[in-house]
Amino acid sequence: MTAPRPGQASRQHGPRKAIPVNMNRPQIQQHADERLRIFNLPQDSLRATLANDVRTGLSARPKRLPPKYFYDEHGSQLFDDICATPEYYPTRTERRLLEIHAEEIVRLCRPATIIEFGSGTAAKTEHLLELAASDARIDFVPIDVSEQTLATAAERLLADYRNLSIDAWVGDYDAGLEHMHRYPGPRLFLFLGGSIGNFEEAEAVAFLSRIAASMGPGDYFLLGADRVKDETVLNAAYNDAKGVTARFNLNVLRVINRELDGEFDLNHFNHDAFFNHELDRIEMHLRANRPHNVAIRALDMEVEFDRGETIMTEISRKFTGDSLRQTFRAAGLALENFYQPDNEYFSLALARRI
Ligand code: SAH
Ligand code: AVI
Repeated sequence: MTAPRPGQASRQHGPRKAIPVNMNRPQIQQHADERLRIFNLPQDSLRATLANDVRTGLSARPKRLPPKYFYDEHGSQLFDDICATPEYYPTRTERRLLEIHAEEIVRLCRPATIIEFGSGTAAKTEHLLELAASDARIDFVPIDVSEQTLATAAERLLADYRNLSIDAWVGDYDAGLEHMHRYPGPRLFLFLGGSIGNFEEAEAVAFLSRIAASMGPGDYFLLGADRVKDETVLNAAYNDAKGVTARFNLNVLRVINRELDGEFDLNHFNHDAFFNHELDRIEMHLRANRPHNVAIRALDMEVEFDRGETIMTEISRKFTGDSLRQTFRAAGLALENFYQPDNEYFSLALARRI
């Protein structure tokens, strides 16, 4: 398929370009397979960030926790299990879109580097990697808070694609983005799975604007976004019959118990997820089923819960064609192509910087 671009041949055989380590000093782990490097982004240690977020979020009214703490090893496994439930349509819909359109996307972008935020298992990304790595060497640069998920995915991908080199960045999207200018273009940036919906609009625009600002004229950005649809379909996707999503939701309390010596009793909370019409978003909460107090020893904190009081653990915004276009415009991204199925359950939007 894709013909080699000028300058591409040298990437096929030359040594990997050294990544200059700057003042942020990410720690590098060189893996036995030379094609894999894992960079640990300094994030004042995950535990300190967690401590801050938990203290602030559980002191607020209503109480709130950021969704990134779902994804320890157990939570990442539960997320994978959610993707396999019959109710959770986004994964299989997006996978199908990539199966159909990956060739066109790779032909347009001809990426030397594929950068992915919140890559998880990168299972869907394989449709792009396989094509991009079919006749040229390519760098895959996943950024994710879950180190174990990154390492497992990287080993699988390296075994499957000999033209692939992987720099995996362990840490927050924003911290990772600061290092992406080092990678050769053309670059294809990915933010898949509908994770953009886990941001409020202002945060989404701010994040996409930072991506746009780091893009060169030949770079592309591919976003997966979930769409507003029949409420019963949406509610079922976040309330699967086997209760996997409920366990995923409750897992954040397990993380706090382990990392911050908390004393949450998971039986004292119920999973509560519903579509909020006014804001076009699924809201996921943990609802206290009795009045009680919870000690978080590492924070020297006691949190009081009324019966029925909730912690909002996640928003998952759903877009319309218009709201997506508006978000892109506000972020300085020019939409090139929209890919979606006839039922418009999920969209892939391909953009360049304005
Ligand atoms: N893109 C994959 C996975 C989505 S799940 C898919 O479409 O299936 C969300 C992923 O983002 C998880 O792997 C989680 O560990 C990661 N993640 C969540 N919040 C993050 C953050 N703030 N910074 C970096 N990674 C994050
Ligand atoms: C990762 N993110 C896009 C998922 C979503 O649908 O918002 C996380 C999730 N929460 C519950 N189920 C899946």
